[in-house]
Amino acid sequence: MTVEIIEPHGLCAGVDAAVARALRLRDVYCLHGLVHNEIITGDLRDLRFKFVESVEDVPKGGTVVFSAHGVGPSVRRAAKDRELTVVDATCPFVDRVHRAARSFAKRGMPVAIICDPAHVEARGIADEVLDLPDGRALVPENGLLSDWPGGSGPAKGLEGRKIGVVAQTTMNADDVERCVAVLRGKYDIESSADVCAATKDRQNAVRRFAKTHHGEGSRVLVLGSPSSSNCRRLAEIARECGTGSLLAGTMDEVRALDLNGVDVLGVTSGASTPERFFTEAVRYLRNVPRHVAIVMDGNGRWASQRGKKRGEGHVAGAETLSKVLEWCGDRGIAYLTVYAFSTENWKRPKAEVDGLMSLFARMLKLKGGDFVRKKVRFRMIGRRGDLSKGLLATIEELERRTAGFERQFIVAISYGGRAEIVDAVNEAIRRGEPMTEETFSRCLYAPDVPDPDLVIRTSGELRTSNFLLWESAYSEYYFTDVLWPDFSESDLDKALESYASRHRRMGGV
Ligand code: IPE
Ligand code: IPE
Ligand code: MG
Repeated sequence: MTVEIIEPHGLCAGVDAAVARALRLRDVYCLHGLVHNEIITGDLRDLRFKFVESVEDVPKGGTVVFSAHGVGPSVRRAAKDRELTVVDATCPFVDRVHRAARSFAKRGMPVAIICDPAHVEARGIADEVLDLPDGRALVPENGLLSDWPGGSGPAKGLEGRKIGVVAQTTMNADDVERCVAVLRGKYDIESSADVCAATKDRQNAVRRFAKTHHGEGSRVLVLGSPSSSNCRRLAEIARECGTGSLLAGTMDEVRALDLNGVDVLGVTSGASTPERFFTEAVRYLRNVPRHVAIVMDGNGRWASQRGKKRGEGHVAGAETLSKVLEWCGDRGIAYLTVYAFSTENWKRPKAEVDGLMSLFARMLKLKGGDFVRKKVRFRMIGRRGDLSKGLLATIEELERRTAGFERQFIVAISYGGRAEIVDAVNEAIRRGEPMTEETFSRCLYAPDVPDPDLVIRTSGELRTSNFLLWESAYSEYYFTDVLWPDFSESDLDKALESYASRHRRMGGV
């Protein structure tokens, strides 16, 4: 099965800003879900957010967050009456629709709202209109967009009147156009009905994909919660265009998908779907390893083949590593561990060892900012006491600066698998716990990092050279003759393809 990412996908600016704002809060009340996504709701519950359906449920004087979907004036008044502190996370595009609806109503016009009448955003927009004396809001009847009050003619009491038209920001753009046409047939209208640009772009991308992939073996997978209007629209649009569609909101749902007979799977996500879920789902669907470990070998031979000094090979190898880290990120690999210097490498001539140590310090200083910008957590495994004070300080400073990030880059320096096991044994004895595989694993250098799924070794050597002896017990190995400085993006893809085709039995059948 080929997994194609449909672009653009995912978080829109409005949701991104609302989530960023909410993540700074603790112990507050939120009116409805901040956005319709259960992963984000879970994150906020962890920050002790309480979700309520009415401001009446917020204790007097408390803090309430208005969700990205917006609220009408009656809710704002109720919050004021209860003396609540308000954090308004309303999306600016929703706000614009509120203002348009209100301005139509102020001019005495009834306002048709193209919407899903049960959606909180629609209720907020309707509230803007109904709040004004004689304000009249028209919504599609029975939730059906084709069904406007009044049958084929104008609704009662609206004969000859000019009607303002607005739309909920996450509708299907084609439906909005069709509704505007229906309303124009019945009334003299002034329309500012439009879905937001992010919604439209994501919908058009699904249409483009569905146009070229509508056979039996094609599907569109929308990642996002079933409660999300814009996610459901994406799935509907794929079906309208003749491509089967699936919707999954959690990794459990992704794992449970029936993908039998699917040759091409287009994957998109809605405006409220966190990117970390999207990346993990795509990685799972493509069978990309979560943790890749690399024995970066062959720098010396690369240099001598070119009549260069070994040190130049190491510099070229360091450049390759920067690129590999990026390629791994692009592919959703969550952990990359690289073998940079083994406990046995101290045997090398002093000049080479010194050159390597200063190369490590130089690279970390040069790349430190990139790790922060790209949100990559840097860590070292190995015997820290063997390193110079200066190098260790640089390493530990970068570890501190990047400690909060999810994606991880782990460099093994003065690392030996046997040394790690011995160090872990001593630590386990010190802790005095009964020794089991679990308690022992907790004493390793990076106990929270999952075992590598794939270990790659370059330069044609067919050995582990003391790398991750405990952790690689069930790793898949991939060997290539390519020398590390020459390791390219397509070499990485070959290793990943090889991995994806393997059946990891883990001792089972
Ligand atoms: C790997 O390249 C890098 C380190 C061990 C630091 P080598 O230096 O082992 O290169 P070859 O094996 O001599 O070609
Ligand atoms: C393994 O390569 C260690 C690193 C890549 C850092 P070596 O080149 O040191 O290993 P051997 O000596 O070939 O086993
Ligand atoms: Mg070597």
